[in-house]
Amino acid sequence: MASSVTVRAPSSTANLGPGFDVFGLALDAFFDEITITKKGKGIRIITSDSIPVVPKKNTAGVVVTELANKFKIKDGIEVKIKKGVPAGFGVGSSAASASAAVVAMNRLFQLDLDNNSLVKFAGAGEKASVGSIHYDNVAASVLGGFVIVRTNPLDVIRIEPPSDLVLCIAIPDLKVPAKKTEVSRSVVPKIIKLADGIANLSNAAAIVAGFMKKDPILIGKSVKDVIVEPVRQHMIPGFKQVKENALDAGANGVTISGAGPSVIAFTTKSSNQKKICAAMKRGFASSNTNCQTIICRPCKGAIDL
Ligand code: HSE
Repeated sequence: MASSVTVRAPSSTANLGPGFDVFGLALDAFFDEITITKKGKGIRIITSDSIPVVPKKNTAGVVVTELANKFKIKDGIEVKIKKGVPAGFGVGSSAASASAAVVAMNRLFQLDLDNNSLVKFAGAGEKASVGSIHYDNVAASVLGGFVIVRTNPLDVIRIEPPSDLVLCIAIPDLKVPAKKTEVSRSVVPKIIKLADGIANLSNAAAIVAGFMKKDPILIGKSVKDVIVEPVRQHMIPGFKQVKENALDAGANGVTISGAGPSVIAFTTKSSNQKKICAAMKRGFASSNTNCQTIICRPCKGAIDL
């Protein structure tokens, strides 16, 4: 049996507008890499990144500890972490670490976990770092492609995205609060108007149809959220301008990536992504905010890298 396994897990975007906590998409923008080795005693985290190294405070450490307890693993475990996904920007950083950890543990100790169990353990790890449980980012990061998350019981449906779907992400240079996801979840309404539910449901259904029909324009044009985006956008300086500029430059749809503050534009291979990125940059600049822009594509997940 191997004594060491390395797994890379991708960044992801959650929600895709109307699919709050339900939709996720794996993106090849950034990757986390985790190597798990049977070594020494107990669980030890090794990293040169500025992240906690105490296992119970580290997303990957929490996943490894949970699995070691659940499967009564007696070996010492070294967890080497290389962060590539920026933390706190809505591109699935904690989810990538949790996903890489669960997939590496599954391989190294031959745990034989099925896809839903992998997602469940990764979700528990992410909960430890962001404070709330939602499986959209971890499901995308573990399984890759576009995912639909159903809960009670957890059941994830994966759809292969169209090859001509291209995304532009603008990551603003902002100081994000320590508990950013918790803060941005606290503004989401508990009760919504039926008309808003209908609007989001129709667009969410159209996004699923877009992925099934491999139609990137239908996907982009359905990225419309009347429930969460309106209450979160004030946390992103310049959001309205970034969105308007990207749409004017040819994007099919624009929304907040996950809990923000990154903004994501949905485009196709034939769109002018450089123009769209420049337009998003100008949008942020109108609120005196710099941003990094990335052109990326949907990608495979940690299990099949
Ligand atoms: N669905 C979650 C949210 C994703 O929007 O709060 C967090 O990355």
